[in-house]
Amino acid sequence: MNNRTVRKAVFPVAGLGTRFLPATKTVPKEMLPIVDRPLIQYAVDEAIQAGCDTLVFVTNRYKHAVADYFDKAYELEQKLERSGKQEQLDLVRHVLPEGVRAVFVTQAEALGLGHAVLCAKPVVGDEPFAVLLPDDLIWNRGGDGALKQMTDLAASSGASVIATQEVPREQTGSYGIVATEGFSGRSGRITGIVEKPSPEEAPSTLAVVGRYVLSPRVFDLLEATRPGAGGEIQLTDAISALLAEETALAYRFKGTRFDCGTHIGLIEATIRYALDNEKLSEPARRMMTDALVEMGVIDSE
Ligand code: G1P
Repeated sequence: MNNRTVRKAVFPVAGLGTRFLPATKTVPKEMLPIVDRPLIQYAVDEAIQAGCDTLVFVTNRYKHAVADYFDKAYELEQKLERSGKQEQLDLVRHVLPEGVRAVFVTQAEALGLGHAVLCAKPVVGDEPFAVLLPDDLIWNRGGDGALKQMTDLAASSGASVIATQEVPREQTGSYGIVATEGFSGRSGRITGIVEKPSPEEAPSTLAVVGRYVLSPRVFDLLEATRPGAGGEIQLTDAISALLAEETALAYRFKGTRFDCGTHIGLIEATIRYALDNEKLSEPARRMMTDALVEMGVIDSE
């Protein structure tokens, strides 16, 4: 890969979100809120902070709410303006800052993450790009977001960069797992990558988290990728093919990842963001302590 700036970010949001049924029968999981903002907004903010100005949402017919959310809400804005609700008006208007555009492409069939990313090829073209999986919410309080850390590394190294974190060995079957050549600081060259290996087969316990900075060569490789784990076209398999041609680095990002694709991860993120919120911190803390006392988990003082 060369070290051109990463301007385009791809958000695969065509998943069915079955884990969150019945809520996701009508509300896309990306629109579930963490405190006051939908999950997708956190990933979008991270991409914008990293310098991306073109956001490509890979979506399907059930996800109109995502497109509506990034559209201008004329009536609502007018109402808020007329009633002088400036604070709310700003919130509604600044879902996307000036100069950032949203593009929607359709993934007609759910053929896997790799296929979803390939759907963005006509928009991304021949330049390095980012992929963000909104389920993985990464919080780096007061510091650079994970993607910004990664685009900086991609710019200085000219390599593709994949976010990783250590997981317990019994969980390797839920992730892409990388083998690396040894780390220097937070990054190491990837020598192998495999999608959802069993604990016995996993080459390490270093798991892929949903942030990627990728060479456009991945698109060509995805076109040649056959269905893999789970019968799906896997992004992991195209990255594996890329390793024969180009360097890809595993990056241990600074920050905490919440797996918002699970109930407990979504709850954990909600609690952390509430505890960090200026207005909610105090009442949230009190409410949680009361609940734990009431349930006999902790003693009252
Ligand atoms: C996807 C990727 C996997 C990665 C994971 C991170 O899996 O295929 O390699 O480790 O995201 O969240 P999914 O969680 O969509 O099954």
